[in-house]
Amino acid sequence: MKRAGVIGYPIAHSKSPIIHGYWLETLGIEGRYDRYAIEPDQLADGVAALVRDGVCGFNVTIPHKLAIMDLCSDISETAQKIGAVNTVTVLEDGRLSGDNTDAFGFRANLESSVDTAVLSMARTALVLGAGGAARAIVYALSSMEISKIVVVNRTFDRAAELASSLGALAAPWEMRTSIVRDADLIVNTTSLGMAGQPALDLDLSSAKAGTIVADIVYTPLETPLLRAARDKGLVAVEGAGMLLHQARPGFERWFGVRPDVDGELERRLLAASSS
Ligand code: ATR
Repeated sequence: MKRAGVIGYPIAHSKSPIIHGYWLETLGIEGRYDRYAIEPDQLADGVAALVRDGVCGFNVTIPHKLAIMDLCSDISETAQKIGAVNTVTVLEDGRLSGDNTDAFGFRANLESSVDTAVLSMARTALVLGAGGAARAIVYALSSMEISKIVVVNRTFDRAAELASSLGALAAPWEMRTSIVRDADLIVNTTSLGMAGQPALDLDLSSAKAGTIVADIVYTPLETPLLRAARDKGLVAVEGAGMLLHQARPGFERWFGVRPDVDGELERRLLAASSS
């Protein structure tokens, strides 16, 4: 039986077992996907133990996404550019191959939520936030037809560093609303709008018709930003899909079948997120 899982600390909150467990069940694959709590100073030993136990791969979450890179013998170009690894495959000789599937997840969610003709017209993107998720999203956008990506962040230096390493532009946080009118695509990568957090303060009144507004926050599924976008007749893209789609490449590598995202999987993720 093939076994995979997710490493992190703490790990109890991880939704990945719900996603992979659903695919194992519905695709009739005999396999397991478990949570593994590995403390930050135990990463090398913890991973070596998993490899010894015959695990064929694992997802990586906070706080190990950077540190795991030192343990990988090869790292995909995508993961190197994003600067983090979230998916590891154990090779036959026990060495580790690291990848980052967040950019794939963001793009696949966008492509499955937005009309292809509308998406292919998008040229200018406004990205709010400059953390790890923003890096993956800017990388994804730069692989699309988007020619201008503007990153705004509360801490300007992080936006400037991200923009210069990934070929985007940086602007001060205070300018975010004035950039809305130029944007074909707006992406919130900050935690603002999450349950228990303040809403993102972004006035969409100058947005062009057809502007796509995406959020990576998925609790609640309809954030205040997405509600405002829908109220203005803009195209809203919910955040749960990025989490679901980013899981697909790892599952395919470990269990040999490319899984799909369907409505029942979305329902299970949301049920688990609200409990
Ligand atoms: P992740 O890796 O999940 O993206 P992160 O690195 O903690 O998480 O990034 C969180 C993002 O949300 C950052 O861009 C952060 O801005 P700073 O770089 O200035 O910290 C942003 N963020 C969090 N709380 C915010 C707030 N109250 N106002 C504006 N931005 C906020």
